[in-house]
Amino acid sequence: MRLEGKRAVVTGGAQGIGQAIARRLVDEGARVAVLDRTEEAARAALQDQERHLGIACDVSDSTSVDAAFAKVAAAFGGIDIVVCNAGIGRGPDDGSDQMYGGAARRAEQIAAGETPTAYPDQTIHMSDAGWAAVLGVNLNGAFYAARAGLRDMAKRDAGGSIVLIASTSAASGEGPIHYVTSKAGIVGLARGLSREVASRGIRVNAVHPGPTDTPIMANVPDAMRDQMAAAVPLGRMARPEEIAASVAFLASDDASYVTGAVLAANGGSYFC
Ligand SMILES: NC(=O)c1ccc[n+]([C@@H]2O[C@H](COP(=O)([O-])OP(=O)(O)OC[C@H]3O[C@@H](n4cnc5c(N)ncnc54)[C@H](O)[C@@H]3O)[C@@H](O)[C@H]2O)c1
Repeated sequence: MRLEGKRAVVTGGAQGIGQAIARRLVDEGARVAVLDRTEEAARAALQDQERHLGIACDVSDSTSVDAAFAKVAAAFGGIDIVVCNAGIGRGPDDGSDQMYGGAARRAEQIAAGETPTAYPDQTIHMSDAGWAAVLGVNLNGAFYAARAGLRDMAKRDAGGSIVLIASTSAASGEGPIHYVTSKAGIVGLARGLSREVASRGIRVNAVHPGPTDTPIMANVPDAMRDQMAAAVPLGRMARPEEIAASVAFLASDDASYVTGAVLAANGGSYFC
């Protein structure tokens, strides 16, 4: 019960890693508000809706984020922990099909002993809307949620902990270009913000999940998913609960001297 008495917000907590985080924080004693795209999904994530909250919120829209955080602060009396987890891997016309298709064809050509003529191009096919969608949710969304949490923490002057969910792709550079860029931005946000708010007793850290068995992985073709799992030194994908355990540590006072850090929960794939 490391988080007894703490009040937490988890964005994108309706499924996958975010849901595992929300449930882990509850198990450790926190009151938790899940923010997700629909109220129904957000409310379904946690059982006790007297004690916990599920709120509809689009993290890419700062008005929506501010309104959701205001509801949480009013219901809980304050916010001690913010987990910026909501993320997407694809946007409209973002060149993902061309990239994955090109990579698969190139591998086939090389395996057949042919001179490869296919390329895993994404950027040349990327639309402005595709780029903006992923940056809007993954990076702007994390910033808006962190900012809304900080405003409450600063007002109460009682410290706090912010955990940002980045990705191993920020270290490896592997993955869709908008996604990799957004996650590298998350690392910069964690580091810069940790410096800015340390004197307030607020800690800011990031977690790099490796490939984790969640619905977001449905975007990735089966063969590539198997390759990703096989390339992990521990030899498998993570379970969402394994990522949640790292987040709970960083959120708790067990990490009281840890700020600006990137915790690689990635089976040894990359060192941060
Ligand atoms: N699964 C992986 O292999 C993996 C690896 C590294 C990092 N991550 C990161 O972990 C986080 C969670 O990923 P996941 O695998 O659980 O994905 P997921 O798709 O299973 O869950 C993402 C959640 O975010 C919510 N969401 C999406 N857009 C939103 C928006 N605009 N506003 C509010 N909520 C929104 C979704 O509704 C969903 O509940 C993401 O930031 C992702 O980039 C995942």
